[in-house]
Amino acid sequence: MNRESSNQLQSEGAIHTLKVVSTTSYPGASYLHLAPQYQADAGEADLVRIEMIKRGFIIEHPEYAHAMAYARWILSMPKNARGRGILLTGNPGAGKSTFGEELARAHDNKVIIVSAEGSSTMREFYGRVLEAIDGPAVYPVSTSDREMAVLRVIKALDIKALVVDEIQDLSKGTDRELSKVLAGMKFLTNRARLPLICMGAMESSNAFRNDEHLKQRLRPFVLPIWKSDQLFADFIGNLESMLPLRRPSSLRNDAALNYLIKRSGGSLRAIMEHIVLASVRAILSGEECVTLSGLKEAEFAPPVEMLRKLKYA
Ligand SMILES: Nc1ncnc2c1ncn2[C@@H]1O[C@H](COP(=O)(O)OP(=O)(O)OP(=O)(O)O)[C@@H](O)[C@H]1O
Ligand SMILES: [Mg+2]
Repeated sequence: MNRESSNQLQSEGAIHTLKVVSTTSYPGASYLHLAPQYQADAGEADLVRIEMIKRGFIIEHPEYAHAMAYARWILSMPKNARGRGILLTGNPGAGKSTFGEELARAHDNKVIIVSAEGSSTMREFYGRVLEAIDGPAVYPVSTSDREMAVLRVIKALDIKALVVDEIQDLSKGTDRELSKVLAGMKFLTNRARLPLICMGAMESSNAFRNDEHLKQRLRPFVLPIWKSDQLFADFIGNLESMLPLRRPSSLRNDAALNYLIKRSGGSLRAIMEHIVLASVRAILSGEECVTLSGLKEAEFAPPVEMLRKLKYA
């Protein structure tokens, strides 16, 4: 992922400058504590590594991997296969939207992602879809014209799936509004023969309370609330092997795992944010690894004097 930008910099002659001034360069080191495909990343300049860390990492933990494998499977089925779908639920920050984005990325962005937030009519819902796929600059006014416009664009762009995020928001409206939007989703996915991937909060299945048929179509997957257990230790182990730090981190122990869970309440967003901050700090301080004490120091963003170091990187 970063090799491209690094190569570009190199071809422009800029990488050399970055490398020379890197604060903690270990020439010739092979960084065997990292997974083979990430070892070279640790040799990059500080600034480059910090940008890599800020961009984030995707860990294919078991529930994510099961849901992704199933999504890829239903997207690979012939167009005439009916009733393909998923309902992916999870607490705030569990990784639902990330899942949708990764699915789209894996399919050359031929996946429409819309948010159900604030859609209370089919007309609005189709407007969202047109917006998501950069449809016509001026949307047709009537619901049926919008419907036709959406179907045309889906066909022209060879769209592979419709992803509807924040699906729990549909149940905030009246039953009448809810059934209208669900009817729109059903119409679109049936006519265009698209798999439907719904994502939302834990209570999302409530949005399908009046549509048993649609509910049956969606295979449920639940993203976890993390606890201090073997699954979490494995997750952290995977992450440690990807972080572009030059020394081995040490977070796979009860004290560090418990601390992360306690501070985050088991939310992946909070866990990742904490580790990202600690990793950036580890580069800026020259410590080059994340430990429990590093986590404790990284409760907040790096202090200004540390960030100033970047000017010299
Ligand atoms: N598979 C993953 N591996 C590593 N980090 C992840 C993964 N999925 C999500 N994250 C981290 O968690 C953060 C929150 O993810 P995301 O926005 O997808 O959650 P969400 O479930 O959509 O939250 P919300 O309910 O607030 O919409 C991401 O920015 C990323 O840092
Ligand atoms: Mg989200």
